[in-house]
Amino acid sequence: MGANVILVGFMGAGKSSVGRLLARHLGRCFVETDDMITAREGCSIPEIFAERGEAHFRALEEETVRLLALKSGDVIATGGGLCCRAGRPEVLKALGTVVWLSGDFDTLYERARRAGERPMLTGRGRDDVEALYRAREPYYRQADVTVDTTGIGPDQVVTRVLLALQDRLAPSRLGKGSGEGRG
Ligand code: S3P
Repeated sequence: MGANVILVGFMGAGKSSVGRLLARHLGRCFVETDDMITAREGCSIPEIFAERGEAHFRALEEETVRLLALKSGDVIATGGGLCCRAGRPEVLKALGTVVWLSGDFDTLYERARRAGERPMLTGRGRDDVEALYRAREPYYRQADVTVDTTGIGPDQVVTRVLLALQDRLAPSRLGKGSGEGRG
């Protein structure tokens, strides 16, 4: 199993829209960890948070990560907090190439506030959300590849992700040292 492309990043990074487009480009299946959770639970993410609390949601994420081991060759969009647990980045990296869709905090925050109902934003002011983002950054940073989404739309992000994935493949395709013959 493995060889998945796994998108991580804060709320508002565009993991769902980029993931869907990327999967289409690569001719692969698209999976969202939040959808795996809602399908199994039969209710929405905001309902899970409201009725069972965040700790229960995180336990469901844990179970979902175990199920990801069955995936092969898929494009997987993760919820914004899924990779932010000790040992989690390593587990995800064993399942494929982890891509961090990064961005300027204020841009991410505005996007996250505009689109969809997000329980992690409920009752938190901007500064609290920024503190959450800063605490999560070290986990996102462990991704194999980082693509900055600031100021560009999903199509351009997909182009950048494809280029970054190609770059990662290039040295192994050449079969030896990656620096030779460049520049
Ligand atoms: C969460 C992000 C959400 C969802 C849940 C928790 C988080 O996904 O998994 O509400 O902790 O950041 P998105 O990143 O797709 O909004």
